[in-house]
Amino acid sequence: MNIILIGAQGSGKGTQAEKLAQVLGVLHVASGDLFRSAIAQGTELGMKAKIYIDRGDLVPDDITVAMVLSRLQEPDCARGVLLDGFPRTLEQAKALDRGLQEADRFIDTAVYLEVPREILLKRLSGRYICRANQHIYNINTRPPKVPGICDLDGSELYQRSDDQGEAVQKRLDIFFNGTFKLLDYYRDEGKLATVNGNQDVEKVHKDLVKAITDRL
Ligand code: AP5
Repeated sequence: MNIILIGAQGSGKGTQAEKLAQVLGVLHVASGDLFRSAIAQGTELGMKAKIYIDRGDLVPDDITVAMVLSRLQEPDCARGVLLDGFPRTLEQAKALDRGLQEADRFIDTAVYLEVPREILLKRLSGRYICRANQHIYNINTRPPKVPGICDLDGSELYQRSDDQGEAVQKRLDIFFNGTFKLLDYYRDEGKLATVNGNQDVEKVHKDLVKAITDRL
């Protein structure tokens, strides 16, 4: 099973993906996490990507496609994947289809997590993530038990550089003016499902599981 989670920045893709991947028995692969891990390790790819990410821009397609397709070839992806944050452009979607076809695989469903822009802005300004494992918190809606410390692994919580200042508005513009068009691509292929992401986390999870399993 290969599933794509599409949603604007702050729509809850990362919050939902970990548990959803467990329930579906597939691996969670997030392009943003792959980039942040490359940046933390100081790799050449990470250094290149950091310039775009800090500005709130998309990383160019050639860099992103090569990174994600190479990850999908690793053995732990063979049972299926839940893709979070990739693809974001038509070029990436087509490259993904070609890459999967070469391995006799295909996308089963693309789910759009729909959340209004004003809610996204509020969520992003309150988001903190942990250094060790990127667990996600929100000072307004999902605070940690001890301020500044991850409940799950005790590591420090920090605010992402792209959740501050102008980068936030820019990322939302890129989604609503660009990535949004991807929905037509998957709708035309009969693979698109839409879930209301503006509900509590548990209800969104239930609706996601239903939307995906209904289409199997
Ligand atoms: P990436 O890491 O993918 O970030 P993003 O798409 O900007 O998505 P976010 O992580 O901001 O949001 P999310 O939907 O995961 O929300 P979350 O669950 O955290 O990408 C970062 C950058 O890398 C990009 O800007 C780009 O530069 C580059 N990049 C990545 N992929 C790329 C690609 N394919 N092509 C080119 N460049 C690429 O939730 C947000 C907050 O809301 C949290 O605080 C959470 O607690 C809260 N929350 C979640 N759900 C709910 C709920 N139901 N109710 C209340 N609060 C909630």
